[in-house]
Amino acid sequence: MTIQVKYKLKGTLNISGDKSISHRSVIMGAISTGQTKIYNLLESADIMSTISILRKLGVKINKISGVWVINGVGTCGFKQPNQKLDAGNSGTTSRLMFGAVATNPIHASFIGDKSLSSRPMSRVTNFLENIGAKIKLTKDNYLPLSITGTQNCLPLKHIIRKPSAQIKSSLMLAAINIAGETSIVENQPTRDHTEIMFKYLGIKFKKKVYKNRKTKIIINGPKEIMAKNMHVASDPSSAAFFTVGALIVPGSNIEIKNVCLNKTRIAYLKVLKNMGGNISVKKMGKLSGESVGNIKVKYSKLKSVVIEKKHAPYLIDEYPILAIAASQAKGITKMKGLAELKYKESNRLKSIHENLIATKIESSIIKDDLIVKGSNKPPVGNNKINTYHDHRIAMSFSILNLICKKPLKIDNLKCIEISYPKFGQDLKNLITNG
Ligand code: S3P
Repeated sequence: MTIQVKYKLKGTLNISGDKSISHRSVIMGAISTGQTKIYNLLESADIMSTISILRKLGVKINKISGVWVINGVGTCGFKQPNQKLDAGNSGTTSRLMFGAVATNPIHASFIGDKSLSSRPMSRVTNFLENIGAKIKLTKDNYLPLSITGTQNCLPLKHIIRKPSAQIKSSLMLAAINIAGETSIVENQPTRDHTEIMFKYLGIKFKKKVYKNRKTKIIINGPKEIMAKNMHVASDPSSAAFFTVGALIVPGSNIEIKNVCLNKTRIAYLKVLKNMGGNISVKKMGKLSGESVGNIKVKYSKLKSVVIEKKHAPYLIDEYPILAIAASQAKGITKMKGLAELKYKESNRLKSIHENLIATKIESSIIKDDLIVKGSNKPPVGNNKINTYHDHRIAMSFSILNLICKKPLKIDNLKCIEISYPKFGQDLKNLITNG
């Protein structure tokens, strides 16, 4: 049975800058020597949190004729802030900034919104305490927290057992300001934007990749970073929403331009291709060290897949939208080893599952696996979606909404501003009648 909808997704789309690269570009610009201009910076609430914290640390950041201009203060140049540093909803802002602040001789208090204040922070601060920063957490794990940094942090070997690019990046940011050799071992590889940006900026480091997928980064500090302009590639995680939208809305045919094709971020394209998705990718070149290209997607009849646990770090932000694809795929899709999803902007394992059930899609959680039974019938809709103020839940169910017989009642669309303020407008531009 083919789903009958009133419209299709058609046309070409340029989406906003990548969130991970945007955070890193403003932080690296801030700790460089000289002036950095950033083009295509994502202007979302999370990035504004990073910018506002850096301003409170004495960094001058302005938008001039559409370009963000940062006057760097150098690797140990943060000023004592006289206000609390508010990371808002942003895990990346808080965790990366802990590492950047820890090696400066200042005292800083970090706060966040309700969601961020319930997310674990000791996964990063434990390492920073080991190198010599004095940190006080709420209930040993949460915001609000305070850090008293020191210029005499120790060069150590760190072994990161949880797959988290935020932990790795926080330690890399600390390491450039520590005298001696810091080594950072990851048991599982994670997104590598910090490494790519270090290379682009000429910061020397070694990275070894072992046969068992472990990686080791060695940084001999301290380093001085010379400012260099940056161009932010478009966000592949944002592209994922339209990719799945085009796959599930009959008659759709879209092209998304200049998307970051970093292989640690586009594993979802492989999953969707394995599900039978008609997707083609054309590499176009590089932007500030990151590969970019265009993604073409056509409506496809999807089939279920099993996604193994080892792929989780490269798919971490895409499980909500992959669950939507699974709900329209023939058969039972198993997504294994999703424990880390519990610590995102919402407990995503629960929020995906609950909202699928509310939409009368069969879903179950067994240990940390999410199991979704697909259907070739359009969801009836008309039910409430509880986003838990989580931007990726709101966008994922907005995509499912395209094929529901009656509209879903999504309780919060404003939270989409966390990562993608232009989402609604971009979606509207793709919707064609007929
Ligand atoms: C991010 C890393 C991931 C991801 C987050 C952004 C980053 O978190 O979920 O949206 O920019 O480093 P973890 O590293 O904690 O898995």
